[in-house]
Parts: sequence; structure tokens; C-alpha cells
Amino acid sequence: MKERRSFLENSWFWVKLSATAALCYPLFRFLHYRVPKKPRLVRVNQQLLEGEVYLAPDFALFQGATHAWAVSRTCTHLGCRLNYNEEENLLICPCHKSKFTTEGKMVAGPAVKDLPGFKAEKMTGDGKGYVVTLFG
Ligand code: FES
Repeated sequence: MKERRSFLENSWFWVKLSATAALCYPLFRFLHYRVPKKPRLVRVNQQLLEGEVYLAPDFALFQGATHAWAVSRTCTHLGCRLNYNEEENLLICPCHKSKFTTEGKMVAGPAVKDLPGFKAEKMTGDGKGYVVTLFG
């Protein structure tokens, strides 16, 4: 009889614990929920030739043979603004000398992450230049 009572008490404890976890889960998810930022569209009113670079405060825009692309100028190590080195064709951090390719691949640390890339589209119609879509 005592074993049965103990079994029922243990079962009841686990049922209550499971119910509490099930009820609290949506609350914890809500508390950690972040509204994603809207993408920001930046117009670059300049036509680039193949191999040319446009440096904005937030991104570097490159024109290749077939398409244009943009990468962030914020270093993934501690957030310094990257400079473009034309001789090495690299983005170099002035703070701790991390280096990134023009596609954003990290080639020298201390940064460990690649640069985020942004969508860059040529303007259509009468407009000359590009529209870069920045996230975050
Ligand atoms: S902030 Fe760029 S390498 Fe440290």
C-alpha cells in the first residue's frame, strides 16, 4: 500500500512539473523574442566599372565582370571600420590588422568570422547606380 502511494505521489510530481514547463515555455520564448530589423535600402548613385570599388560608411561595393556585390565594412573582431587596400585587393582592419577578401572571407585574424554580404543590384530604368540592401 505504501509503495502504491509513493508511486502516485511521484507520478503527480512529474505531471505537475511537466505542466509547469509546458505553460512557461511560451512565456520564455516571448521574453526572448526579438523583432527582426527591416532591411535598409541604400542607393549608390554612381556607375562603377569592372574592378572599381565604392566605399560607403557601412559597406564596400564591388563591381565584377558579371555582377556587383557588397560586404560589410564592420570588422567581425571588435567592430572597427575596414579600409580597402587596392594593392593587396583586401579589406584590412586598422585596429588589429584582420584581413578579408573582397568577398568577405577572413584571411588573417584575430577576427574569426567572415564579413556579412549584402545584396547589390544595378538600378533599372533611368536610374544609374546600385541599390544595396543592408540587414541589421
Ligand atoms: S577590430 Fe578588427 S581586427 Fe580587431
